Amino acid sequence: MFLGPCAPAIGAAAAAAPSAAELFIHVRLLMLDAMFGVLLAYSATLTLYSMREQIRPAASITGAIQLPGDKSISHRYAMLAAIAEGTTKLENYSTGADCQSTLACVRSLGAVIDHREKVISIQGRGLDGLREPADMLDAGNSGSTIRMLSGILAAQPFESSIGGDQSLSGRPMQRILDPLRQMGACLDARDGRFPPLSIHGSELHPIEYTLPVASAQVKSCVLLAGLYADGRTTVHEPVRTRDHTELALREFGADVEVLKKSITVAGRPRLQARSLRVPGDLSSAAFFLVAALIVPESNLTIHGVGLNPTRSTLLDFLVEMGADLKILDVASTGGELVGDVRIVKSPIRGGVLEKARTAALIDEIPVLAVLGARSEEGLIVRDASELRVKETDRIASIAENFRRMGLRITTHEDGFEIPGRQQFHAAELDSFGDHRIAMAFSVAALIADGPCVIEDAGAASVSYPEFFDTLHRAAGE
Ligand code: S3P
Repeated sequence: MFLGPCAPAIGAAAAAAPSAAELFIHVRLLMLDAMFGVLLAYSATLTLYSMREQIRPAASITGAIQLPGDKSISHRYAMLAAIAEGTTKLENYSTGADCQSTLACVRSLGAVIDHREKVISIQGRGLDGLREPADMLDAGNSGSTIRMLSGILAAQPFESSIGGDQSLSGRPMQRILDPLRQMGACLDARDGRFPPLSIHGSELHPIEYTLPVASAQVKSCVLLAGLYADGRTTVHEPVRTRDHTELALREFGADVEVLKKSITVAGRPRLQARSLRVPGDLSSAAFFLVAALIVPESNLTIHGVGLNPTRSTLLDFLVEMGADLKILDVASTGGELVGDVRIVKSPIRGGVLEKARTAALIDEIPVLAVLGARSEEGLIVRDASELRVKETDRIASIAENFRRMGLRITTHEDGFEIPGRQQFHAAELDSFGDHRIAMAFSVAALIADGPCVIEDAGAASVSYPEFFDTLHRAAGE
């Protein structure tokens, strides 16, 4: 196997990263049946981050909706499909730009991807079959793509580099550099800690690693790198994080052992292609669940939602706070639980999020902040310093939109306190280029005392391009 020298530190490459306020390109594959075979065409859909969306107060949120495939699971399936043997077929793959970034990256690494009738086929290259990309890999806005894919790239017999947009270029990478270097990886980051990363593939050895931060992305990075190590790699977690990687690895045929909060993967498996359906994204469902809880007369059913127990803390928390929520028709697919969720408008008590529960609900906190302000007793969030290093500093983004709506909030370095029973005033709100802030404050706008505008609403496309269409439909517009 190729053993390259470590790369010199990279600096200038980051300057080339496109700004989050610019256009981003959402590449879709179109398959056209031509007379002499199949013609593959690419359509580039330009989405303006600066799109403004008007949201009017809603009378109710009703009907039945379906969600795009889970973002976390889609990333993992695409990456594992690329290094499996055979052709994987994925139904309900996330339509979000983040997961398109992962597809584009694995395509640049040699996987052949084909999109036909809502099924994405990925011809895998086998564990050792990826090829050197011609250019820097573009993870766009996606922390999951850069952090998880780096685990695979670190073990390849070639050099690669991977970067992303302005927001991603400011997100911490030390958390993956440390364990990968312990495995023998040769990689560097801008200023030693930010994207882009430059990676000289090298032979990796197994490690036992205790995560200093509760992060499923870092755990997954190490486990994916562990696939290439000659032996068994173990990750110990301080608190249990989403286990989609463990479940997906098993589906593709890897040997994975889970003992409480320790996960071990055996190196050098032969991964086999699978046909899988991605469950609907529970983190996207969160916006509609909260909308139904705060808008009068609401009664909503969400079909086919992922109910993985490492993600469904959200449902437990909502029920604990008084939500009238029912789960129907639970089934299992690819090791993941999936079911329908029915929710009706209910009085919400409010509550406290801290420790492991904060980690489990980290993506849902922006919309839970909105719910907290409408609850009876308010919401306290602690142990959430990770919110500071998401797509935006989410504590700051939430606080600024609260201020604009005339809502009270007290912020801390690692959390905030929100009093309950607050009145939401119409305002010009801003996503700050962050998909979850765009969607959380669109939900807040549904109960404002007049129409609101969301600046940079197009950021929602990062995880949920259909969000506004579905929201307007559920609101009866
Ligand atoms: C994710 C893990 C979480 C989450 C992110 C997706 C994943 O990040 O916030 O949206 O798919 O593994 P961390 O691993 O940084 O906690």
